[in-house]
This record gives sequence, C-alpha cells and structure tokens, in this order.
Amino acid sequence: MVIKKNKANVAILISGNGSNMEAIIKASKAPDYPAKIAIVISDKEDAGGITIAKKYKIRTLIILKDKYNSRIDYDLAISKILSKEKIEYICAAGFMRILSEEFIDVWWNRIINIHPSLLPSYKGLNTHQRVLKDKIKVTGCSVHIVRKELDEGPIIIQAKVPVKKNDTEEILSARVLKMEHKIYPYALMLLAGQKIYLENNTVIHKDKLSFDNFLISPLLKK
Ligand code: GRF
Repeated sequence: MVIKKNKANVAILISGNGSNMEAIIKASKAPDYPAKIAIVISDKEDAGGITIAKKYKIRTLIILKDKYNSRIDYDLAISKILSKEKIEYICAAGFMRILSEEFIDVWWNRIINIHPSLLPSYKGLNTHQRVLKDKIKVTGCSVHIVRKELDEGPIIIQAKVPVKKNDTEEILSARVLKMEHKIYPYALMLLAGQKIYLENNTVIHKDKLSFDNFLISPLLKK
C-alpha cells in the first residue's frame, strides 16, 4: 500500500446532521486516503454534525450569519479562517447557504458539493418530493465542483438509485443518502488524489473507477 504522507487539508461546511461529513471523516482515516479533515464549520448552532465532528476530535466552528452585514462579509470571514488553516479543498455537505460569487472565485475548482439527484435534473430543494411526484423510476446523487449557479458545475461522480413503488420521501431519501455516503468520500479521494482534471469545464478521470454497478461511467482520459 502506498501511504501518502502529505494529505491535503480539507474543510467541511455543514448545516445539519452531517452524515455525509461523517462518511468523509471515516474514509479519511485510511492511511492511503489523500485528504485529512482539518476543520468543520457550521452556520447553525444546533447542527448535529458538530457533535459528531467533535467525537472525531476535529476542530469545529459555528459561524452564525447574524453577526455579519452581508453574505459577502460572512463568506469572507469563513474564507479568512480557511486560508489560515491552509485549506486546499472545501466540501459542502448539507450546507444550506448559497455561497457568494466572491467566495467561489477565491476557491475556484476547490469547492465540491453533494446533491441528492442525478444532476442536471432536480436542482434545488425538495428533490425527493419532486422525483416521487414525477413518478420516475431512477434517481440518484451527484458530487460536483461548485460554480456560481445553484447545483451547477462539472460532475465528478454520480450514482443511480432506484425509486421503488411504495416509496415515501423518507424512504427514498434514506436510500439515496446511503449512496451519497459512498460517492462523496470517493469523489474527494479523486480530487485530492489528483485523479481527475478539468477539460472544457468537464471532469476527466485519469483512471477507470473501481466502484459498484450503480455508477454512471464518467469520462475517461482518451
Ligand atoms: C444530503 O442529502 C445532501 O445531498 C444535501 O443535504 C443532505 C445533507 O445530509 N445537500 P447530511 O447533513 O450529510 O446528513
């Protein structure tokens, strides 16, 4: 096993339960995982993910928006902390704020996000509710590089998840979440391990992925 000594410093931004955050933290414990989680930042005081991060002895910060005059000021405050911590990549994991253009510019190609649908379908909120209403048979989840438009940006990986006959929103979201926990650590591994690159705003994979059947084949290097 090749053990990478210099793991990339990663920050995770959360607002809620932090189950994706926990999946990433767990994966990052592997000696050959190319990233380590240096800090978890929440915009909500009561985010369950904060307790989980503390359990893993990861530095946590709660930064509430009320102390700042504007979204840009808020994002700048976060940006300063991330620079001080020498953060290289940022994972938005259920972070319920839209990042400002200024923030995205500073961290260009270094912020990734997970969304519980097969993007570009079902951007925005209430994804599972809309999927069920449309009676589609297959949904999924996507990890993408963050761009200025909501839930837009080059897709790193996606996984399909079946929608079953008697699914409720809760049942479907739990099934999708289980898959999110697989693809998010995997996507960060690809990014931090420099296994992907961008060409014309599209993610190209250097190697064929060793993942399961649900994966939608990403573009491979020619
Ligand atoms: C996930 O479904 C994620 O795709 C979406 O918000 C949810 C966060 O869940 N962006 P958790 O906080 O990671 O448990």
